[in-house]
Amino acid sequence: MKIKNNITVESPGRINLIGEHIDYNGGFVLPASIDKKITIKLNIIPGDICFIESRTVKKNFKLNLKKISKSKIQWENYILGVLHKLIISKKLKVKAFNCKIESNLPIGAGISSSSSLLCGLIIGLNNLNDLKLSSDEIIDIVSDVEHTFIGLKGGIMDQFTIVHGKKNKLILLNCQNRNFKYISSNFSPYKIVLLNTKVEHNLADSSYNNRVEECNEALKIINKKYKKYNYLVDVEEKILNEFKNTLKEKIYKRALFVIQENKRTLDSANKISELKFKEFGELMYRSHFGLKNLYEVSCEELDFIVDFTLDYKKVIGSRMMGGGFGGCTINLIKENFLDDFIKLISHAYLKKFNIELNVIHVNIANGVTIKINNEL
Ligand code: GLA
Repeated sequence: MKIKNNITVESPGRINLIGEHIDYNGGFVLPASIDKKITIKLNIIPGDICFIESRTVKKNFKLNLKKISKSKIQWENYILGVLHKLIISKKLKVKAFNCKIESNLPIGAGISSSSSLLCGLIIGLNNLNDLKLSSDEIIDIVSDVEHTFIGLKGGIMDQFTIVHGKKNKLILLNCQNRNFKYISSNFSPYKIVLLNTKVEHNLADSSYNNRVEECNEALKIINKKYKKYNYLVDVEEKILNEFKNTLKEKIYKRALFVIQENKRTLDSANKISELKFKEFGELMYRSHFGLKNLYEVSCEELDFIVDFTLDYKKVIGSRMMGGGFGGCTINLIKENFLDDFIKLISHAYLKKFNIELNVIHVNIANGVTIKINNEL
């Protein structure tokens, strides 16, 4: 049997058309993997010491496979967290390796550079060491590393998309049971464009995790009376409204957003399948205003971009994307207006915030891929 000892893993980022902050509430999401990615070169070496180098964050370190523990340097925890789960929690045998990381995925822009790195690394090590981990196990390990090593209590949308992404397809994913279906991502004559505010969010800070807790609080209080809901998205709006005066105003707003966003995602999947792109665009705007006013995860820069688009008929949808507090907006823009619009928004954004807007053109591409460079 041939043994692989040198591979290149390409792990994509993801976009999300709609269905924000509902993956951890058991909702439907509509993401896709993209052609911006992290490249991880892995080769096996003798001994127990691994050498890790990231050209993107311009850092390197070495680690001993026999002594894996959390580091004070957050970036190192991505690698250490993966090895901890594989070697200590799952008792799997991982051979020493060199790892070189490069990326054209902006960090902190809400396109999931963290899950992309984790998924790519695990899938690479799975392949090199023949660990026989299933896709579901890979998704669970990545979630676990994010929860315990990185400190982000996120859902499964990012990992699922990076593992299962498919060229020119959106994924309509039910986060309760991981059932999913692919939907065509052909929006012609409109194009998907990301506009990066360059306001970097750090989702591992408390704001994201607070939202998770606020949703859990809403569900707990509703279940004191109804005792039947496993997830917040399953509560009907009519039932939630019975609790309007019992729940703190903030908690009520969070729950209302979650329930409405889940409906919007299902509606969106139908509209896109029926090629009713303008109607889908309307739902994107509603999603944004819910994220801004009810869920309160937007920021001035994101709101500025979304509001700016409202004056242009050829931009049919715009909203903040990902965890929020910075990062990108996702926009649906008529192809023949793209260049003009980019000039207008870039100029206005620079004038308002003195920041050069970063425009990210995305194509929907496959999930993680592996190239074998050498076999012994
Ligand atoms: C981050 C998390 C995801 C999801 C989004 C918001 O990307 O990692 O699980 O909750 O935020 O939709």
